[in-house]
Amino acid sequence: MNLKEKFISAKKQGYRQSWLTAYDYPSARLLDESGIDLILVGDSLGMVVLGQKDTIEVTLPEIIHHLKAVRRGVTRAPVAADLSFGTYATPEQALVSSIQLIEAGADAVKLEGALPNQVSLLTSKGIEVIGHLGMLPQQVREEGGYHRKGKTESEAESLIQSALELQSAGCCALVLELVEESLSKDIRSKLDIPTIGIGSGECCDGQILVTSDLLGLQPWFRPSFVKPKADLATPFRNAVKEFISEVQALSL
Ligand code: KIV
Repeated sequence: MNLKEKFISAKKQGYRQSWLTAYDYPSARLLDESGIDLILVGDSLGMVVLGQKDTIEVTLPEIIHHLKAVRRGVTRAPVAADLSFGTYATPEQALVSSIQLIEAGADAVKLEGALPNQVSLLTSKGIEVIGHLGMLPQQVREEGGYHRKGKTESEAESLIQSALELQSAGCCALVLELVEESLSKDIRSKLDIPTIGIGSGECCDGQILVTSDLLGLQPWFRPSFVKPKADLATPFRNAVKEFISEVQALSL
């Protein structure tokens, strides 16, 4: 069974998938050992690891570098990787870029936006593709912020249309980011492939989060929809402070 068949069958059985991001070996290994359903090497890499203000500057070689580390830590869960900004403007460019991600160890690639031609070419070559609709972080500069999608009827209709087109083009799953809850419920009911929500309410077939948001590792930036399950920044700082005190107390 390929990933798409597995995902469709999981959806039919009502299984709720849990996806998280990873960018390095130890976190990928811990996620895999904890039973996560999919690990995404997201272009959130730029904000979470590289200290950039958004995802636009992340390059494909950077994704590949981190993907290789993640791949080494994972034996069980599928690993997906984001096509970074500017690397899938045409179907042919998307193919060249996706092949690089697959060769670096990705089981699937993810791309943002209503790009059925890109998805058709990739899936015709046997590449598993995850779609991503709603708020598209790679367009944050044009949009002037992270705004919720699907508030107007025309926006909702266009999102439903795009979701159906991405499914017909062969996507194996669809990430819905910051989509109005009633709309994400509607999109879910119209698709055979699973919808994976982030800030789009409960009515998706699964949920994805940036792992450092879940773990409370970056208290300086927390999206409003995130309910952290831990506050790892505090034990991190305390351990460092304890180490500093111990070092300072050493006798020469
Ligand atoms: O880059 C990313 O981490 C994502 C998310 C959907 C979490 O695309």
